[in-house]
Amino acid sequence: MTALLLFGFLITALSQQINTEQIPFDTIVIFGDSHSDTGNVYKLTDQIWPRPPYFQGRFSNGLIWVDKLSVTNIMNYAYGAATTDNSLVQSIAWSPVMPTPGVRQQIAIYAKDSNIITSNLNRTLFIIWVGSNDFAYNRTMHPSLVVASLSNAISDLLKFNIKHILVFNLLPLHLMPNIHAFNQESYYSAMVLEFNNNLSKEIASMQATNPYVSLRIFNIHSLVSKIINNPIMYSFDNNED
Ligand SMILES: *[C@@H]1O[C@H](CO)[C@@H](O)[C@H](O)[C@H]1NC(C)=O
Ligand SMILES: *[C@@H]1O[C@H](CO)[C@@H](O)[C@H](O)[C@H]1NC(C)=O
Ligand SMILES: *[C@@H]1O[C@H](CO)[C@@H](O)[C@H](O)[C@H]1NC(C)=O
Repeated sequence: MTALLLFGFLITALSQQINTEQIPFDTIVIFGDSHSDTGNVYKLTDQIWPRPPYFQGRFSNGLIWVDKLSVTNIMNYAYGAATTDNSLVQSIAWSPVMPTPGVRQQIAIYAKDSNIITSNLNRTLFIIWVGSNDFAYNRTMHPSLVVASLSNAISDLLKFNIKHILVFNLLPLHLMPNIHAFNQESYYSAMVLEFNNNLSKEIASMQATNPYVSLRIFNIHSLVSKIINNPIMYSFDNNED
């Protein structure tokens, strides 16, 4: 249960942060993995996975941040287990074992199912939160290759003339109970640091070459680190499990 609870609190913290600002968007399009999936893998597996205590197709014991966004039109293409791109690392759902779309594949699905040209892209925010599964499925994966892959996904979106993108960086994965249990803290903290530094530079460079797009990082790493270091300030009374 410990991993579930950690996710529960992350998500509450995230939605608090998002809801404190007035959102100038009427549409949010989401690409990503289990942090954001509100039922896509559940549908794909005929409601077999994720199963309880996960809540209604979410990889959490309750509602997640996506459920709490106060925007009328949410288009959610996130699939649990997703990687940045299936041609870099294949995304696989467990029990039943089946391939799921990585983020670049999700973007291709979105492009097919919607008329991007006629939506008001000035009022549409695109969010990408992905990356940790690339490392989960390939322990020798190099962070810069995953950043390059994420950057390809962003370039796919830029071709549609979109205006606003928010990209999440990686969480402090070394603090997660399963990684702690396997004594992999130092590997994960170094890897995440390298990934996040490389991602910041990559986003800054893409922003410079695409001045008409707002390209931002949501620093979930910093937010979660602050919460874990000072849970009381964020109204959490338990930062252990
Ligand atoms: C979107 O914003 C641009 C520049 O700010 C403006 O020229 C354009 O007319 C806007 N498009 C719509 C559909 O509102
Ligand atoms: C894992 O990633 C590395 C690159 O960092 C690559 O050389 C290797 O082939 C990948 N392993 C598998 C099983 O795909
Ligand atoms: C990301 O890291 C790779 C390898 O370390 C490097 O070649 C690349 O220039 C970095 N990207 C940026 C934008 O700094």
